[in-house]
Amino acid sequence: MDPLGYGVATSSYQIEGAVDVDGRGPSIWDTFCAVPGTIADGTDGSVACDSYRRWDDDLSLLQELGVTAYRFSVAWPRIQPTGSGAVEPRGLDYYERMVDTLLDAGIRPFPTLYHWDLPQALEDAGGWPVRETALRFADYAAVVAERLGDRVRDWATMNEPWCSAFLGYAAGVHAPGRREPESAYAAAHHLLLGHALARDAIRTTHTGAQVGIVLNVTAVHAETDGDQAAAGFVDAVQNRLWLDPLVSGRYPQALSAVRALTADGVVQGGDLARISGALDWLGVNYYTPFRIGTDPDAARAVGQAADAYPYAPSFVFRPHAPRTEMGWEIDETGLTQTLLVAARLLPGVPLRVTENGAAFADAVVDEDGTVRDDDRVDYLQRHLAAVDLARAEGAPVVDYFAWSLMDNFEWAEGYRKTFGLVQVDPGTQDRRPKASFRWYAGRARS
Ligand code: FCB
Repeated sequence: MDPLGYGVATSSYQIEGAVDVDGRGPSIWDTFCAVPGTIADGTDGSVACDSYRRWDDDLSLLQELGVTAYRFSVAWPRIQPTGSGAVEPRGLDYYERMVDTLLDAGIRPFPTLYHWDLPQALEDAGGWPVRETALRFADYAAVVAERLGDRVRDWATMNEPWCSAFLGYAAGVHAPGRREPESAYAAAHHLLLGHALARDAIRTTHTGAQVGIVLNVTAVHAETDGDQAAAGFVDAVQNRLWLDPLVSGRYPQALSAVRALTADGVVQGGDLARISGALDWLGVNYYTPFRIGTDPDAARAVGQAADAYPYAPSFVFRPHAPRTEMGWEIDETGLTQTLLVAARLLPGVPLRVTENGAAFADAVVDEDGTVRDDDRVDYLQRHLAAVDLARAEGAPVVDYFAWSLMDNFEWAEGYRKTFGLVQVDPGTQDRRPKASFRWYAGRARS
């Protein structure tokens, strides 16, 4: 097997800022953040890491780190400010320059076309619960592929569509903040359909393109035998809802009572056949396993409310110690397991760990001001060993991307939860590599 490729990942709304520059249209995250109480520290992504203007600095960091790949996302509202029709050339120019400078630096560009910043105009027209959105996504994918497809080989369509569908439309804790269980399942179908249509569009433009999807699939464990039913349901929504249609063109039996996923709901003839097999590689974002319990007194893991799994039997998350600042249990065995399951379900399909990392307090600072994040180094080390183990057992994992290059806007948590290898001063935007950056640089160059 080829040596593992090492990269880092970011996303547009979390780092770019410059939300009203070069013709960018509003996205659902601009709108959502403006609603009081949605973001823990009352912030938004309007400035973030100012990476839109500081790309050259960030490229230098990538070079210093010695990574061979950079996973970033393209902001749809920069390319089509209203989500359809008119194309903003300055948006395309921005990503083209990014791609060209990455290639000059010997770093593979790894764009994700949708990392949650839906153009607001499309949400106003109904958002992901509406089929049109999937069609518009494919048009947008074609526009980007036409400009960049001669230089970009590997594309990801959606990032963690589970979050878009269930945090966005069921739990309402992510943009657009709706709480409509049935709409969340409709959104899930349209996200999968949008993925498949976009893959076709990209491959029509560039036949050699390798188009994948990025899922936050994970190991789901029942705490006791009595928790099996709830764990099975969570597994169905978190994992099988996405993998089953991609693997075999079916929605899981456990979700057969969900009306949206039926032919008289939103699934039209031919949709599942289109989705089935529609991937050239699979991206796995892994942070934590899920432990499902029914103890009514157990604390719920932050950000993982049970209402994000509509129609599940009542349950709570019971993350074991040790945990990160997000409250997420640290257990690298879940990564090995997740990769092996994916490898078994999708024989011959290359796998990538497209995100893995941890938020820690970053409170230990050396005399020279460097954050000494030994806990993050330990986390990354353990998870890289878990990837090695999965590879040794036959899982075709080709790349690993650490989340994230730098501290950034962590969605509903704002800026208080830091995942970066680089610390960013919110006032001056100074970038300061942490100890984990030096450690990862050593690993990437090994
Ligand atoms: C994932 C997201 C990513 C980041 C990490 C911590 O769910 O894809 O943008 O916020 O979690």
